[in-house]
Formats: sequence, C-alpha cells, structure tokens
Amino acid sequence: MTGEQIPVAPRASNIEYAIRDVVVPATKLESEGHTILKLNIGDPIAYPGLPTPEHMVEAYVQALRDGNNGYSPSYGIPSLRSALARDEQRKGWAATAEDIYVCHGVTEALQILFAAVLCDGDKVLAPGPHYPPYMAYPQMYGATTVEYRLKPDDGWKLDLEDIKSKMDDSVRLLVLINPNNPCGSVANESEIKALLEIARNYPKCMIVADEIYDGLDFTGEHVSVASCSNDVPVVSLNGVSKVYYAPGWRIGYMALHDPSGCLHLVRDGIERMLRARLCASTPAQLGYLAGLESDRSWMKDYASKVVQQRDVCIDRIRSIEGLEVQSSGGAFYMFVKLTDPKWANDDKQFVLDLLHEEHVLVVHGSGFSPELGKGHFRIVCLPEPDVLNDAFDRIERFLIRHR
Ligand SMILES: Cc1ncc(COP(=O)(O)O)c(C=O)c1O
Repeated sequence: MTGEQIPVAPRASNIEYAIRDVVVPATKLESEGHTILKLNIGDPIAYPGLPTPEHMVEAYVQALRDGNNGYSPSYGIPSLRSALARDEQRKGWAATAEDIYVCHGVTEALQILFAAVLCDGDKVLAPGPHYPPYMAYPQMYGATTVEYRLKPDDGWKLDLEDIKSKMDDSVRLLVLINPNNPCGSVANESEIKALLEIARNYPKCMIVADEIYDGLDFTGEHVSVASCSNDVPVVSLNGVSKVYYAPGWRIGYMALHDPSGCLHLVRDGIERMLRARLCASTPAQLGYLAGLESDRSWMKDYASKVVQQRDVCIDRIRSIEGLEVQSSGGAFYMFVKLTDPKWANDDKQFVLDLLHEEHVLVVHGSGFSPELGKGHFRIVCLPEPDVLNDAFDRIERFLIRHR
C-alpha cells in the first residue's frame, strides 16, 4: 500500500553521488547471479593485495580491548592531533596540534567546513572534473559550486586563466584536489604558487587543499599547498582512507594554516560545529595513530603495486581504438576519454550498456562534471592485472561490437 507521500527536502532529493549511483544496477545484476568486474570505487580494501597494515589493525583491536570505547575530545585525541601536526610539519609548514581537527573522514571535514563558511549566494570554485561532494554539499548551504577547467589534453593541468576569470569576492573557497580524483593529475609547486597568487587578491577566500592522495604521488613533484603559502589561508584535508588503506574507519582531519591570522571567526565556527557533533570514532583514531607513529616503508611497496597496475591500464587503454588517456601522476584513478563518436556524447549510456552487456562497472565522467567530464569514464587501477586485462578485453569487445 502506498499512502500520500510526506514531502522530502529538495536538498536531499537533488543530491547525487555518481560513484555509488551506478552501483544500484550492478547490485541488481549481482542478485541475478552475474559476476561484475568492478573498476568503479576508490576503495583499496575492495580489491585483493592492498590490506590495511596489520600493526594498525592490531592497534585498533587493542584499543577496543583496552576499553577505549568512549567518546573522545571533539577536536580529536590529543596524541593523534600532535602526531598529525608533526606529519604536516614534515610536509613543510609550522602546524601545531591546535591546528588539527579530527573528523569522521575528509567527507565530514568538508561538511563542517562548508557549514561553517558558506552562506546564501556564496561560491565554491572547484576543479572540473572533481570528486562529487564538492558539488553536492555546498548547495545545502545556499551556495553554488562553479568549476574551473582542468586541461584535458595537457595532463589535466590547472587552467589558471579560467580560474582568474571566475574569481570574485563571492568565492569563499578555492579548491585544489591534489593528486586529483578523478583525473590522477598532480599539480606542481609552480601551479600551486600561481593559484595562491590569484587567491591573494580576494581576502574573503581561503584555499581548500584536499591532499588525501598525497602519499600516492608518482611524479615526485607533489608539495603541500600550506607549505607554499605565507599569507593566504589554507585548509588542508587528509586522512586514513587512501594512503593508510583504511577507508572504512572513517577518520580524517582538517588542518588550518592561518599565516595572516584571519581565521579566528571561522575557527570558532568550526569548533562549535565539531562540539555539536560530539567526536570521531575513538578506536579508529588510535589505529590511525599507530600508522603515523610506526615505520612507513610499507607504503612504498603499496604505491609500487598501484603504479604497476596503472601501467597495465595505460598500455591497454592506448592499444584500444576509441579510447584515449593522459598518463596519471598520482592517486589510483584514470579518466579515460571516449573518442568513439558513438559514445563521446553519452558517457552515461556507455557505462550502463557496458555494465549490462559485459558486466564491467566504471563511472561515467559526467558524474564528476556535467560539462568538463562528459565523454569520459573513470576507472580505478586497484584490481589485480588479470582482472584489469579481463576488463579491458571486454571493453574492447564492446566498443568493436558497437562500432
Ligand atoms: C578527493 C577525495 N577527497 C575525499 C575523499 C573521501 O575521504 P574520506 O574517506 O576521508 O571521507 C575521497 C574519496 O574517494 C576523495 O577522492
């Protein structure tokens, strides 16, 4: 029986998250007994070979056994805040424990930051294409997200002229995702300095530096944005999900770099929001702390596995007629261009047809930017080479069949 419907708020009914939206038809196919090759989700734990390091798991379990199951302080466990400040210092700026706010992942940090800063009519200037929450969340606070262009034929570099032309006083947050999801591009120091040069002219604007993939930089050119800024305020975002391979723990943080002392009000707003939502998970924070305080040489082995798999993807994509790709410099993504005219204008249909006919799941590029992502699809290079090869065989077969 279906009764008269209680209205839903448009802020919820309008929200989309492409990466998980395509999972709905895939789950249906699975329930019918089909096996799906999943190249869609940026979760290393969903694939074999990149488990959460044992010493971190041990610390989490030990925390539970030791009775560390209570609420933690709202801004994070002090020892974790100190360890994270030391880690940010290592990246080149004078962070203190008080600058670190621990959240339930970067995702919660974003919600809190947007809630603390954005009002009706404000803008967020974010890269196109971008990780979807940068578009989805600001609208909840009456703000809009405007995209600046990443250059599709030039390694997805920042289009600085486009950024300049779109900046005005209503832009409160200028976002850099570095390395980028979905493109896998890495902005270097000179691009970051040019970005800061632009932001410097807008005193109400701060930079959001999403550096959650910084430990997966294969160019050797990654630098933290905060380490480059002597004046412009920067909120650095990072966490346990990607580089420490524990996304299900839901722990991340924001670090406030405030060299000009202009963030006192914003900081107060953020702290109020954090207190109102109590705290992040206590045992998960202790698991993260163990990762920060132990030897991290294991990270190199993990990263080289990702690089090997990235190379398999690049070789295969470049050998398939109808596809093109820029080499990726970081993270575990690749944003593949559909040059085949049949699909170039309908990446969503490509994804759905590929799923139904060949049981390969990727994410449509327009889900990362309606304009700047269309005609592309995103893959993750996390599956093992034999799965990747199988997936590319199927993609090739699919393209040939529809030519
Ligand atoms: C750029 C970027 N930021 C943040 C996140 C989510 O981070 P967390 O798991 O800490 O919420 C993701 C996840 O895919 C991401 O790609």
